[in-house]
Amino acid sequence: MQRTLSIEASQKIGQDIQVSGWVQARRDLGKLIFIDLRDRKSLIQVIFVPGEASEASYKLAKEIRPEFVIEVVGLVQERNKKNINSDLPTGGVEILAKELKILSRAKTPPFEVDKDSKEVSEDIRLKYRYLDLRTERMAKNLKIRHKTLSFMRKFFEDNDFLEVQTPILTKSTPEGARDFIVPSRRHAGKFYALPQSPQQYKQLLMIAGVERYFQIAPCMRDEDARADRSPGEFYQLDMEMSFASQDEIMEMVEKLMVELVANIFPDKKMTFEKFPRLGWSECQKKYKTDKPDLRQNKENPHELAFCWVIDWPLFEPEMEDGHFAPAHHMFTRPRDEDLPVLDQDPAKARSYQMDLVLNGCEVGGGSLRIHDARVQEKIFDLIGFDAEQKKYFSHMLEALDYGAPPHGGIAPGVERLLAILLAEESIREVVAFPKSGDARDLTVGAPSEIGAGQLSEAHISVKKASGPTGRSHRSSSRPEGKNKK
Ligand code: AMO
Repeated sequence: MQRTLSIEASQKIGQDIQVSGWVQARRDLGKLIFIDLRDRKSLIQVIFVPGEASEASYKLAKEIRPEFVIEVVGLVQERNKKNINSDLPTGGVEILAKELKILSRAKTPPFEVDKDSKEVSEDIRLKYRYLDLRTERMAKNLKIRHKTLSFMRKFFEDNDFLEVQTPILTKSTPEGARDFIVPSRRHAGKFYALPQSPQQYKQLLMIAGVERYFQIAPCMRDEDARADRSPGEFYQLDMEMSFASQDEIMEMVEKLMVELVANIFPDKKMTFEKFPRLGWSECQKKYKTDKPDLRQNKENPHELAFCWVIDWPLFEPEMEDGHFAPAHHMFTRPRDEDLPVLDQDPAKARSYQMDLVLNGCEVGGGSLRIHDARVQEKIFDLIGFDAEQKKYFSHMLEALDYGAPPHGGIAPGVERLLAILLAEESIREVVAFPKSGDARDLTVGAPSEIGAGQLSEAHISVKKASGPTGRSHRSSSRPEGKNKK
């Protein structure tokens, strides 16, 4: 007999079906044994009655414990009116078991899987993430993440964007957050870096003529963890458009967010269908922050107040050495009317940066980009790059000289967006296997030591570890020089 999913049982009243899944709970009521069986769609009640179930199956049913994996063949019957469970999609029916097979036994789990795991210690939840993901809330978060990402893909496809995978093994850059580095076996003493964002590649794709690019892009940054910051990897909904104005880019993202919420989060209420666009300095004056929370009712977990913050200064205030750190990143374009200001008072130049803010959190950062090699080189000078540092970006300067279209884009953070949409306090709740606060994968035990053979192939000799962090001098948390706080 083929397996039937619990959710389909109500269409099979009066028929024998086979269901399989995990035991969520077992209750013995005198001679009756009740089981809540869980599969990927729902729970369903199974009853073992002596005489109805085969003798062997009835005996076996007594051995069943939570989280055992079982297979049951039985008759789908309607429940008595007073026993209908309207909380369950299968609550109008139950399965009168005939045959039972135990497919897999389970130890007693370290926490109860049929309850929300919020109160369980995070280290335990992460170590046994495969059990944590069985809980209703976490399983729902995984499903909604999938639905959100597939909605985004479809949206971009419908709007004529091309999805392109950019390299994972790429080049370390002298600025920005700390890189994760990967030693090269074939090029002794050389290293790849994992990408902090596909920023440079997406600009190169614009120069290549792609015109509309998107990617659900893995980004790796060696940063300290916070509730809204992963200490390792996260995903961006990365996009870039050529020949588009800043307004057109913002409108595209706005359309995506409005449609996403309407389709996947219909219970949410948008404070604004048209997102307000706030100038950075007015925003600072009025709200004392560059991430204003514009909700009408901050207690309402269903309210979503998106806004844009634009007209950012191009640079942070001048540093003691007379150089400037980019407010966003070094590829952000100065406003056309402020180009002359770069020669006089760079701190006063404004940029085409736009941040997407949701309920007081920066969920996305983007900008129009420099598409003129001369302007790009000037920015490198103002940042204080010497010839050696400029060499790291020579491919960008060169590419800009081969017909670069005006372009710009943005990258909303997938986890930050989802955490707010799902009213979760930490981005770790919307990630299947997140890193712990100290950047470890507790499920598989990474990072881990590697054998002498592997080390030698990678031309690495390991100094005796001096401590867990190995701090570098860099403090910026931004890719390619972005160090806006
Ligand atoms: P930026 O560095 O602002 O811009 O990143 C864009 C968005 O990515 C998310 N984000 C993070 N999410 C989780 N953990 C982190 N450690 C983390 N760091 C960033 C945030 C943030 O708004 N290349 C540019 C984008 C562009 O200009 O198009 C960039 O990476 O939601």
